Amino acid sequence: DPRRAHPPALLTSPGGTASPLCWRSEWLPRAPLNVTLTVPLGKAFELVFVSLRFCSAPPASVALLKSQDHGRSWAPLGFFSSHCDLDYGRLPAPADGPAGPGPEALCFPAPQAQPDGSGLLAFSVQDSSPPGLDLDSSPVLQDWVTATDIRVVLTRPSAAGDPRDMEAIVPYSYAATDLQVGGRCKCNGHASRCLLDTQGHLICDCRHGTEGPDCSRCKPFYCDRPWQRATARESHACLACSCNGHARRCRFNMELYRLSGRRSGGVCLNCRHNTAGRHCHYCREGFYRDPGRALSDRRACRACDCHPVGAAGKTCNQTTGQCPCKDGVTGLTCNRCAPGFQQSRSPVAPCVKTPIPGPTEDSSPVQPQDCDLHCKPARGNYRISLKKFCRKDYAVQ
Ligand SMILES: *[C@@H]1O[C@H](CO)[C@@H](O)[C@H](O)[C@H]1NC(C)=O
Ligand SMILES: *[C@@H]1O[C@H](CO)[C@@H](O)[C@H](O)[C@H]1NC(C)=O
Repeated sequence: DPRRAHPPALLTSPGGTASPLCWRSEWLPRAPLNVTLTVPLGKAFELVFVSLRFCSAPPASVALLKSQDHGRSWAPLGFFSSHCDLDYGRLPAPADGPAGPGPEALCFPAPQAQPDGSGLLAFSVQDSSPPGLDLDSSPVLQDWVTATDIRVVLTRPSAAGDPRDMEAIVPYSYAATDLQVGGRCKCNGHASRCLLDTQGHLICDCRHGTEGPDCSRCKPFYCDRPWQRATARESHACLACSCNGHARRCRFNMELYRLSGRRSGGVCLNCRHNTAGRHCHYCREGFYRDPGRALSDRRACRACDCHPVGAAGKTCNQTTGQCPCKDGVTGLTCNRCAPGFQQSRSPVAPCVKTPIPGPTEDSSPVQPQDCDLHCKPARGNYRISLKKFCRKDYAVQ
């Protein structure tokens, strides 16, 4: 009775099987004589069996239900009845399991009373699944055995052998001594044990880059391929994205995964340290690879530092670091005039061809005193804004 929430401890018998302590339901004054036992498992389990030992003669009709959503909805696992058609509108279960390709809720014969008057209801999930179906390879079977809660509904006492003479035997109560639910923590093959978390909830001790109470999703950053259940042969671990240590987040891209031959689909997000690309494997615009450092180094990418006047742009060659120089300009950052060129005052053409020396007096080599032609001596304070511009050939006094 969920309103009274009889704790499971009341179903445990310290007396052993010889002289069991019994739990007895309240007296039911009239039909329907339904009594429900609910077992919350706390998390998803993969069910193997359910058994219930009665102190009195076992009921003539029992429905076994499971929930996969912590009790919000219920689906039948199996039925036990002396009149499957009248009680549940079903045919009795065939002796060799279900006829269809998948597991289904079958109606088995009601448990028989023992000579001492007790009885045992025993349900094995195997009995409702076609032979040869394997848990590893059958998602249908995996779903069938998954339960977060189990419910045993006793719907007709043994005294009412026929569903039509229920009124004759009231009031009635059921008595049981031992309810067992066998199964294993559902961890999808990614954990070997279940633990209690800080709030007292049962959770899988997930490995293989997975997380969640049932290890049913990949951990953040472990999204290089889609999540998969592990099998006996293959761990199907979630793989970390390869971002060369420059990103903390990534996302999965199905298109790229298919193109890679189903090998890798992770795309790094927010590459740091001036890197870019799907794996943060090249330098972003305005930076180039330092050949002296590993790709995973925080300083693997150096700023191009292109000269604001000498270079035609701010983006350099990704591998060499060479900035695009204007005509007559040279150097990695385009900071000096090429041989045969000399500095001009024009920011458009900062280096102009040196006049070819002729036989006349005008063509003598430029002397230091000629500096006045190029750099007017300053009076008072002098602010240098383009400090690299004059670096090589002239100095500001
Ligand atoms: C008794 O339980 C059976 C099995 O779950 C269900 O089909 C039926 O509706 C229940 N009857 C009542 C009156 O709750
Ligand atoms: C960068 O420099 C290398 C070596 O000189 C050259 O092969 C490559 O084409 C250059 N890349 C670009 C985009 O210009």
